[in-house]
Amino acid sequence: MKVIVTENKIQGGAKAFEIFENEIKNGAKVLGLATGSTPETLYQNFTNSDLNCSNLISINLDEYVGLTPDNPQSYHYFMRKHLFDKKPFKKSYVPDGMTKDVAATCKEYDQIIKDNPIDVQLLGIGCNGHIAFNEPGTPFDIGTHEVKLTENTIKANSRFFDNEDEVPKSAICMGNANIMQAKKVVLMAFGEKKAQAIKEMIEGPVTEQVPASILQKHPDVTIIVDKAAAQELDDKYKN
Ligand code: GLP
Repeated sequence: MKVIVTENKIQGGAKAFEIFENEIKNGAKVLGLATGSTPETLYQNFTNSDLNCSNLISINLDEYVGLTPDNPQSYHYFMRKHLFDKKPFKKSYVPDGMTKDVAATCKEYDQIIKDNPIDVQLLGIGCNGHIAFNEPGTPFDIGTHEVKLTENTIKANSRFFDNEDEVPKSAICMGNANIMQAKKVVLMAFGEKKAQAIKEMIEGPVTEQVPASILQKHPDVTIIVDKAAAQELDDKYKN
């Protein structure tokens, strides 16, 4: 795992963009994309750049069950607002949160990922070490699946909703196994509240209790953290 410590999230977003731009210039065609507040500075760099994305495919990690794509809290909406409206991709996949058949949708999503192997996967991390919505205890070998969100995550995500009751209780989400198949992984984390999860992911044991720890077994992972998120790490990681 390569760890890059930046001063703040602005620098972190610029660093992440450098990596994506370089990979795209070197032939990357399929990007695995993420939502949340963390990737916003990266997406700003995308939209301010003259990078052409019209030949790229994007595959997003997850979507809430029960939210329509035009719901401002849906991840469809988030991606359009922060990236796709300004930087259209050739094709952008986000799981269908309104599906009547969740199992079939998950199977189709696995097939989409199989047909379009992900060159670079972007990740954020939850305070409890979750990646996408793969909560602690999720099997490492799982593909796209429906997730019942933990109280912890519902609380954390309630800041985007008018109140906690409005936060959907489940989501469709790429599994740890899908994420591990990406050729390259870039994980970003900013702020003190991510410091413990970052430490456990990098220095702790590989355990399903900390889903992000599986990345220790991936051959090409770059972690971009600001100083606050890096504060618990051993000095050897602080460049
Ligand atoms: C959600 C998303 C994750 C994201 C996490 C952290 O649970 N499903 O993909 O990494 O939140 O969000 P934030 O970047 O806002 O801290």
